Amino acid sequence: MLNVIILAAGKGTRMKSDKPKVLFEAAGKTMIEYAADLAESLEPRKIIAVTGFKADMVEESLKHRNIEFARQIEQNGTADAVKTALEHINDTGKTLIICGDMPLMKHDTIKRFMEAAAVHPISFISVKTDNPEGYGRVIRSSSGAVLKITEEKDANRYEKRIKEVNTGVYLCDNNELKKRVTKIDKNNAQGEYYLTDIVKGGAFAFTADSEQEFMGVNDRGQLAAASKIIWRERAEKAAKEGVSIMDTDSVYIGCDVKIAPDTVIYPNVYIENKTVIGKNTVIMPGCRINNSVIGDNCVIKDNSLIEQSFVGDNSQVGPMAHLRPDSRLEGDNKVGNFVELKKTVMGTGSKASHLTYLGDAELGENVNIGCGTITCNYDGHNKYKTIIGDNVFVGSDTQFVAPVTIGSGALIGAGSTITRDVEENALAVSRTPQRNLENKGSEIIQANLSKKQK
Ligand code: UD1
Ligand code: CA
Repeated sequence: MLNVIILAAGKGTRMKSDKPKVLFEAAGKTMIEYAADLAESLEPRKIIAVTGFKADMVEESLKHRNIEFARQIEQNGTADAVKTALEHINDTGKTLIICGDMPLMKHDTIKRFMEAAAVHPISFISVKTDNPEGYGRVIRSSSGAVLKITEEKDANRYEKRIKEVNTGVYLCDNNELKKRVTKIDKNNAQGEYYLTDIVKGGAFAFTADSEQEFMGVNDRGQLAAASKIIWRERAEKAAKEGVSIMDTDSVYIGCDVKIAPDTVIYPNVYIENKTVIGKNTVIMPGCRINNSVIGDNCVIKDNSLIEQSFVGDNSQVGPMAHLRPDSRLEGDNKVGNFVELKKTVMGTGSKASHLTYLGDAELGENVNIGCGTITCNYDGHNKYKTIIGDNVFVGSDTQFVAPVTIGSGALIGAGSTITRDVEENALAVSRTPQRNLENKGSEIIQANLSKKQK
């Protein structure tokens, strides 16, 4: 029987923040969520998270999961944290201890560790590194047995040269863990109860291959480094699944995103949260797509922002278009340069190719929206709808003062301000008739010019 303890009570002083360290995001997901996902993937009997600094915030972030919380009143060290958690553990099985600040750990590695450690009462994972600074050093006897772990601050200059370090991941028999943890004192440089002291009665060190996987995030530089690794892993995974990623170092794919094969993603693209992208679609540079669905055979051109929207198959969006929440393109649509949509539905085949704002609008099929069209949907207090039927042609520079309804097949003359409903198949024009005054133009130009010469 397995329990998992996640240590997450520390403040994370080196982050220089009021926010608990484990709530910082690495590649779009909080570090504590990585630990929780890993713990859940092992299907344990119980997961216990030790909380302390801003415990309410940390617990709130995990409340949708089946996790018990053990509150550590004072952050007196990792052994004290484990002692707090042990109050929740009564069985005689094993407990895996992980830290909430190690987002790169892999399920498979932990599984392999647990298999190797099964027969030992106390085990931990060590790694060999050329840069051991900050980690606890693994001190072995001449025969290779683990004697103790010495923290950076307690290490002498010989110990500091040791390149085998403690990752902070342990697997222990519950009874042995309880026995050893109660004996730990705080006679050390930091005056803390060190969990590392549990290895003193003998322990098995499983040396993992990848030092990177066990990188602990203590400051923002390490957070950025860990994020970069995760972004690259996700981009490489998508590439393996048939997505053409032009530069795996500059595509940022969220952990819940799905992208179908034969889609092409240019550099500097962010695809966030629960976004789903179909096949044969192209996402050009500088786009950000958040919580949206993009269909098959679409082209999202440079620097477009798509939020909580749906883009149907064979549509083109951008360059520099903005689909704000609750916009829906049914398919075969075109939303072009500098077009903004908000809560707007475009029926199949409808287009708004240039410089347009459509807010709270419902467009039927095959509507053509001319350049510079604006829905005036807001009176300063309330929002109103613009409804446009199938096959309507809207001339350039039109304003729709909502609420207003345009019947299908209608034609709106360019430059019109539409304040009343338009019947099906009608022509609506609302501009003042043109007057041409003979020679008047050059007279005014001359008059203006002579004022300037004075
Ligand atoms: C710890 C290990 C060190 C190891 C390193 C690996 C000890 C004494 N040292 O050092 O050997 O090389 O991890 O990254 O264990 N925490 C609590 N309560 C506390 C103190 C810490 O819950 O009172 C939690 C923190 O939130 C964090 C984890 O324990 O998630 C580790 O604490 P941290 O202060 O980062 O330990 P390190 O100094 O990195
Ligand atoms: Ca740490």
